[in-house]
Amino acid sequence: MSDEVVLSCDNVSRTFVVGAGFMNRGRAFKAVDRVSLSIRRGETLAIVGESGSGKTTLARMLLGVLPPSEGTIAIGGKPIDGYDRLSLARVVQPIFQDPYSSLNPRKTVEQIIEAPLIVHGTAAADRTARVRRMMDSVGLSLRLIHSYGNQLSGGQRQRVAIARALVMQPAIVVCDEPTSALDVSVQAQILNLLVDLRQEFNLTYVFISHDLGVVDYIAADIAVMYLGQVIEYGKAANVLRHPQHPYTKVLLGSVLSPDPDQGLPDVQMKGGFPDIINPPSGCRFHPRCPSSLPLCAVEEPAARVTANGMAKCVLVASGSHA
Ligand SMILES: Nc1ncnc2c1ncn2[C@@H]1O[C@H](COP(=O)(O)OP(=O)(O)OP(=O)(O)O)[C@@H](O)[C@H]1O
Ligand code: SF4
Ligand SMILES: [Mg+2]
Repeated sequence: MSDEVVLSCDNVSRTFVVGAGFMNRGRAFKAVDRVSLSIRRGETLAIVGESGSGKTTLARMLLGVLPPSEGTIAIGGKPIDGYDRLSLARVVQPIFQDPYSSLNPRKTVEQIIEAPLIVHGTAAADRTARVRRMMDSVGLSLRLIHSYGNQLSGGQRQRVAIARALVMQPAIVVCDEPTSALDVSVQAQILNLLVDLRQEFNLTYVFISHDLGVVDYIAADIAVMYLGQVIEYGKAANVLRHPQHPYTKVLLGSVLSPDPDQGLPDVQMKGGFPDIINPPSGCRFHPRCPSSLPLCAVEEPAARVTANGMAKCVLVASGSHA
């Protein structure tokens, strides 16, 4: 495994304004709030968190399609805004959740996979060879080359989407829930394919998922997001087995079956996911936190270095697996 950091973000925030109109400036809120991360070449960073926690907004910034309001993102040590659209597309590519809406049903498999090659000026003969090689790598039969998107199964469509993402040989792939729209029987096949392709092409993945079992299987590192902030970050194997932050503990406890060996609390979160436009004061998790202290409603906890990596909670003891 390389030590080279291929993707990093430093204090990245993204503000949106909602409800703006004539004579109305609307309300601004931070969908992503001061996120710092880094990923080494060939590794996978998973981003997890409840719906609305800011995962896709962060992914869109890492893909360069949404500029950060604050902070910097660097790819290969170079600021992302120093890349033009074409050169960025050669280093980072997306794979989305829903292969039904992300593929044009009026295009054939060949047309879909070769589209990025045409944009980048690849000669026709070379294009055909590369499309065929890519179809082979993602496990698509060549007899499907002239089929249309709507003639394919969900799993085949996601293989086409993966082939299109990889045909320019990017270094980084941002996968936003890449298996969650697929039948359960197909999910494992696509996941195994992504693992094989990571090895074959030395890819680096940002992998957004709700499925912590999948994250455990695929990711070296994990960032747990809550209301726009990364509240715990570190080695996936450690965070998933010895979570430090109360939110991660509850998330794991509610998702995984109770396991006495893990010592996870059998507690439920209080209340629902807060309104991001009016986030709670102090620690954003305090209204739902089973361990909150009076101080938590007032002071935002600083990021603390832990045995896992980082956690934002006043109760977290530095360097321990408590
Ligand atoms: N373009 C936009 N304009 C205004 N608000 C937005 C915009 N994009 C996202 N949001 C809001 O930002 C917040 C974070 O959204 P985001 O899609 O990043 O969450 P997510 O973690 O990906 O959720 P999910 O798990 O449901 O996909 C949400 O409250 C969402 O409504
Ligand atoms: S800082 Fe307080 S409210 Fe926030 S997670 Fe820690 S104990 Fe809970
Ligand atoms: Mg999302």
